[in-house]
Amino acid sequence: MKLFAALFACALLSLSPVQAQPSPIVIRFSHVVAPATPKGKAALRFKELAERATGGRVRVQVYPNSELYQDRDELEALQLGAVEMIAPSLSKLTPLGVREFEVFDVPFLFPDETALHKITQGPIGKRLLDRLRSKGIVGLAFWDNGFKSFSANRPLYRPEDMSGLRMRIQPSRVLDAQMRALGAQPITMRFGEVYAALEAGVVDGTENPPSNFYTQNMQDVQTHFTVSNHGYLGYVVIVNKKFWDDLPADIRSALEDAMQEATRYAASISNAENAAALDAIRASGKTEVHTLTAAERQAWVDALAPVVQEMKDVIGSQLIADIQQTIRTSDQHVSH
Ligand code: LMR
Repeated sequence: MKLFAALFACALLSLSPVQAQPSPIVIRFSHVVAPATPKGKAALRFKELAERATGGRVRVQVYPNSELYQDRDELEALQLGAVEMIAPSLSKLTPLGVREFEVFDVPFLFPDETALHKITQGPIGKRLLDRLRSKGIVGLAFWDNGFKSFSANRPLYRPEDMSGLRMRIQPSRVLDAQMRALGAQPITMRFGEVYAALEAGVVDGTENPPSNFYTQNMQDVQTHFTVSNHGYLGYVVIVNKKFWDDLPADIRSALEDAMQEATRYAASISNAENAAALDAIRASGKTEVHTLTAAERQAWVDALAPVVQEMKDVIGSQLIADIQQTIRTSDQHVSH
């Protein structure tokens, strides 16, 4: 009788809701910037939305500030399945052999965010995302940060002011050409190493939107910041293809919805985040902020114009032409 009761209890236990619960699907989401940036905030918003929409069947673990992986390593980790989701900047996909993404680095190609969104949220963006599948990666979305500015320990008003400076860049041929066109020496470096390199004088300057500059305390090691808005910095959110394809269909669809909403959120906060960061840089009193006048800006546009021509072979002249054409067409549907 005792044995029967014990067996009965065991059977009941094995049916209990706690035991029947499958363990959650874990998405490790690694990135290299601070939590208080457009990307950092969008990653946390995605976590919240994804966990809510799946009723806890998915757990998203966000690792900011290169805590888990540095730039290049995170790409390899994604392909190996050591991390499920990352959001590298568009300048960092070259190791995958998809150079087309470097088109976003072309200086002064995108006049503003509206033009930019016509590409990232339109057919060209979709085509670019599709290119990733053959690399074992699924591209889910483009996330915004904003337009970049130059910084150094000297005023940068005219293109000639860049002459001889060792400027940190992301690993992109276009950015390399951009710095050379300005007479600077480009030095490729991981984002997580930039502050120390500036502090030690290994590099003299850098380029980033204000949000990335301020949240890494670069105002402590750079005396001048020029609002040049010469190029765009955005991200592609990518997942390991096998992981994604193996997800139950209802989970995948809930995650796609969460991603869409997080993407709208990133677009809605990026301007304000960068404006607030710029104010904070000014308020620090450590870095002088200069905004290019229209005439000053034109000199930078002229100095950088040859880069587009030079990079046509790298990126593909058709893609550049398609982008220029799409930007000119004002009645393009924009979905964000
Ligand atoms: C950089 O490396 O400068 C940035 O792209 C970092 C980031 O992810 O925003």
